[in-house]
Amino acid sequence: MYKIVRKKELNPSVTLMEIEAPFVAKKAKAGQFIIFRIDEMGERVPLTITGYDREKGTVSIIFQKVGFSTIALGNLNEGDYIRDFVGPLGRPTEVEGKKRVCVVGGGVGCAIALPAAQAFREAGAEVDVIVGFRSKDIVILEEEFRAAANNLYLMTDDGSYGEKGFVTVKLQELLESGREYDEVLAIGPVPMMKFVCKTTEPFGVHTIVSLNPIMVDGTGMCGGCRVTVGGETKFACVDGPEFDGHKVDFAELMSRNGVYKEREAQVTKDHACRMEAMGKALIK
Ligand code: NAD
Ligand code: FES
Repeated sequence: MYKIVRKKELNPSVTLMEIEAPFVAKKAKAGQFIIFRIDEMGERVPLTITGYDREKGTVSIIFQKVGFSTIALGNLNEGDYIRDFVGPLGRPTEVEGKKRVCVVGGGVGCAIALPAAQAFREAGAEVDVIVGFRSKDIVILEEEFRAAANNLYLMTDDGSYGEKGFVTVKLQELLESGREYDEVLAIGPVPMMKFVCKTTEPFGVHTIVSLNPIMVDGTGMCGGCRVTVGGETKFACVDGPEFDGHKVDFAELMSRNGVYKEREAQVTKDHACRMEAMGKALIK
């Protein structure tokens, strides 16, 4: 069992939790992920590690309450326990040997972009960071990004904070102005990662994306997380989650990620209805 030692709501739908998991904390590196299960009947959910404290033996995760399991996790509190917390899984971000990088984070993906930016900086790289959110009220981790980045560019879709536009608007501007990068690392919604790749391609900038396909076992056995990269089948859980974005088949990834959407929505709705009914029964 793994204890929740800290819980912080970062915005109405995004929560940070610090979990006591000393063996995971001991080995965790930026870019790796864990798989949690709330209880014995729970589904396995992969989440990329946001941070770790080796001395305290804790690992931080940030998640958006979008489906049955993440809503259930969000309902737990400090002092509660979760059943499984397996990791670190996957390959760490490759940070060595890069002088100048640009880390691009979109929405909740910023939770993963932050440790990557910090790891590049610790490895001696100059780090530009572009983060994008729909609007000001859902901006997360701004202070942390300011501390990690040499230059931070904050974008909002509606212009309510920072500069107006998608992250790709700023990336295009920087590349057109002659800014050179050894690598661009993009983490966020799949369409964002796809369009970051389309933006960097004409400039010939090596671009890495962190993929989030459906996962089950997280050990390369089930094939659930398969993605096509450069015409080859790869398993994101063991070969990734980071891949050369210019070689990723994004259309296939989007289609596979959509397979359980209807079922997930139905299960979440049924659960909410049951909870509401239970609440009414208790009030009576
Ligand atoms: P969102 O839709 O609010 O987008 C965040 C930002 O990404 C936008 O503000 C914009 O700057 C950029 N963006 C979005 N679409 C774009 C496009 N077509 N072109 C260029 N830029 C674009 O993001 P959200 O709701 O916070 O994210 C939710 C999605 O992110 C979920 O689908 C989730 O699965 C995914 N996600 C992915 C990872 C990962 O590992 N890649 C991690 C966490 C979440
Ligand atoms: Fe099963 Fe990757 S999650 S092979």
